[in-house]
Amino acid sequence: MRLGIIGCGVLGKFHAPCAVKAGFSVVACSDPVKENAESLAAQYGAKVVNDAMALCALPDVDVVAICTPTPYHAAYVVEAAKHGKHIFCEKPFCRTLKQCEEALAAAKKAGVKLFVGHVVRYFQEFCAIKQQIADGKVGKVGTVRTYRGGQSPLGEGAWFRDFEKSGGVTLDCIIHDFDWLRYAFGDPERVFAQDLRERIDEGIDYAMVTFRMKNGIIATVTGSWAHPSGFKVLVEVCGDNGMITFDSREAPLASQLRGDGGMAPGVVLPASPVNDSPYYLEWADFKGWLDGKHEPRVTPEDAVWAVRMGLAAIESAEKQQPVTF
Ligand SMILES: NC(=O)c1ccc[n+]([C@@H]2O[C@H](COP(=O)([O-])OP(=O)(O)OC[C@H]3O[C@@H](n4cnc5c(N)ncnc54)[C@H](O)[C@@H]3O)[C@@H](O)[C@H]2O)c1
Repeated sequence: MRLGIIGCGVLGKFHAPCAVKAGFSVVACSDPVKENAESLAAQYGAKVVNDAMALCALPDVDVVAICTPTPYHAAYVVEAAKHGKHIFCEKPFCRTLKQCEEALAAAKKAGVKLFVGHVVRYFQEFCAIKQQIADGKVGKVGTVRTYRGGQSPLGEGAWFRDFEKSGGVTLDCIIHDFDWLRYAFGDPERVFAQDLRERIDEGIDYAMVTFRMKNGIIATVTGSWAHPSGFKVLVEVCGDNGMITFDSREAPLASQLRGDGGMAPGVVLPASPVNDSPYYLEWADFKGWLDGKHEPRVTPEDAVWAVRMGLAAIESAEKQQPVTF
């Protein structure tokens, strides 16, 4: 299948080899920063197309990958769908719910397949945690805490540090955790959030977001774009039979289980040693869906839900009130 990539920055360049490994060939690249398109196209013998809307209409493109800043996702999804192209779109699906609805409606009307890159569903550690919960390893889950943080990204033209464009750490970064929470525990009922986004243009943003899920679980997600360097992810899932913890700086995943009459010794479960990048796994899942082999792990409706959770958290932080879904 022939792939056209719109947005050839960090993620466009990162996705290209993953897509190729999954069976796509990169045939066209578009980016307003010409060197970005040219350098990516040169690696794959692809053509550079100056106008991204024109790329969506190319007869020799079967699938369009949208890796631009978030506010532009919707317009390219609509255009690609109009020309009957299947679509890979980076997360967050769109900047607003109205855009999500328009983009989803366009894909449905055109009958094209739309896949949004909620890659955390493909991280082996997160898969293992979800599986252990489903297997009842820690019993009935009561609380979940996650943390995702690092240096504030800049992006081309510093768009990550423009809240109107990126939605800050809440919509751009911890949306990964919002999506995974809903994947693992079902829909949320309400959310309360606090954030410190006033200095986002200086590279400082921080948010603490607490969901009550419909099944009663309390889940707190913390996100930081304020580290001096580095990046880390933490997960803690507490159940009535024990606790699962994950610290990305200290693989592997650990489970401490309660034994009869006291604490059992810590059980270390081999997780990771990653064979396949989760970014490749999402492309392989998308390819399998295109080939009619299976349904995708992420549906477009899941991607809309993730944006809904992110925007509700932002609304809650602004109003200093809980928001109900
Ligand atoms: N899944 C993940 O782990 C992950 C990580 C980082 C970013 N992202 C998402 O990927 C997307 C891209 O982020 P990035 O880090 O690659 O940003 P980036 O700034 O590195 O790259 C974006 C590219 O899009 C180009 N661009 C800007 N406006 C455009 C337009 N109107 N039409 C076409 N191209 C345009 C820019 O010139 C740039 O080359 C964002 O939605 C971001 O949230 C996902």
